[in-house]
Amino acid sequence: MKNKTILITGGTSGIGLATAQLLQGEGARVLVTGRNPETLAAAQATLGPSAIVIASDSGSIGGARELGAAVRKHADKLDGAFLNAGVARFGPIEDMTAEIFDQMFGVNVRGVYFQLQSILGLLTRPSSVVFNASVVAQLGLPTASIYSATKAAVVSLGKTLSVELAPRGVRVNTLSPGPIATPIYAKLGLPADAQKGFEEQMASQSLFKRFGTPHEVAKLARFLLSDDSSYVIGVDVTIDGGVRLT
Ligand SMILES: NC(=O)c1ccc[n+]([C@@H]2O[C@H](COP(=O)([O-])OP(=O)(O)OC[C@H]3O[C@@H](n4cnc5c(N)ncnc54)[C@H](OP(=O)(O)O)[C@@H]3O)[C@@H](O)[C@H]2O)c1
Repeated sequence: MKNKTILITGGTSGIGLATAQLLQGEGARVLVTGRNPETLAAAQATLGPSAIVIASDSGSIGGARELGAAVRKHADKLDGAFLNAGVARFGPIEDMTAEIFDQMFGVNVRGVYFQLQSILGLLTRPSSVVFNASVVAQLGLPTASIYSATKAAVVSLGKTLSVELAPRGVRVNTLSPGPIATPIYAKLGLPADAQKGFEEQMASQSLFKRFGTPHEVAKLARFLLSDDSSYVIGVDVTIDGGVRLT
């Protein structure tokens, strides 16, 4: 990854932060985005002064469209982008509201789409774009209806845009993690006992009987962002410890 400049949305926590650390350790220059001032500051402290930390709300259409301009203040090209920022709210259909629906689609789908549109002019030829979807798009997980629909949309965008952007030298791929130990589980909006039960169920469904680590996903993201995957295009790579099989 030496001398590569890589943008990671949602790079202030969990999978995004682990990917930023891995790529930085391999010589890449990383730009990470997030929204929460505390996690933005913590990420700057973790990644150090060479990392560019950008406050950018993926859920606002203005924020998504302005991402390219925000990046341009610090970098004149991008060799790759990991469009990873995402939110998850779980609950039965009776408890879901139009606001929750719009928020999840706003960040997970509209944000990804218009962020990519806004950085297109910065992407080098060749370059690599990776979307973070989820294995839930392949499952039928109760209480995850809206979230799963957003991730199915992300997989679809990855497939279509891989064909559309190939002539520009931009490779698009998607990765689909299963249960990965990150702060996202505390943000699901489930009561504490339901959250614990869900986490235990997910761990037991894995063939390894455990959650994956953000670092394990980061290594897959690194592969897809690097020249090592130069002939890989338009795929959705599942990294779920076998959860989809049980
Ligand atoms: N963990 C899993 O089990 C799992 C499984 C499958 C897929 N995924 C996907 O992996 C991605 C990363 O999740 P994670 O597990 O690493 O969760 P996380 O630790 O909660 O990290 C989410 C990241 O996204 C950022 N983000 C959320 N909403 C944003 C917004 N409106 N604008 C800008 N940034 C925003 C967060 O920044 P702030 O802190 O500033 O909000 C944070 O940096 C998500 O797309 C998620 O759906 C996770």
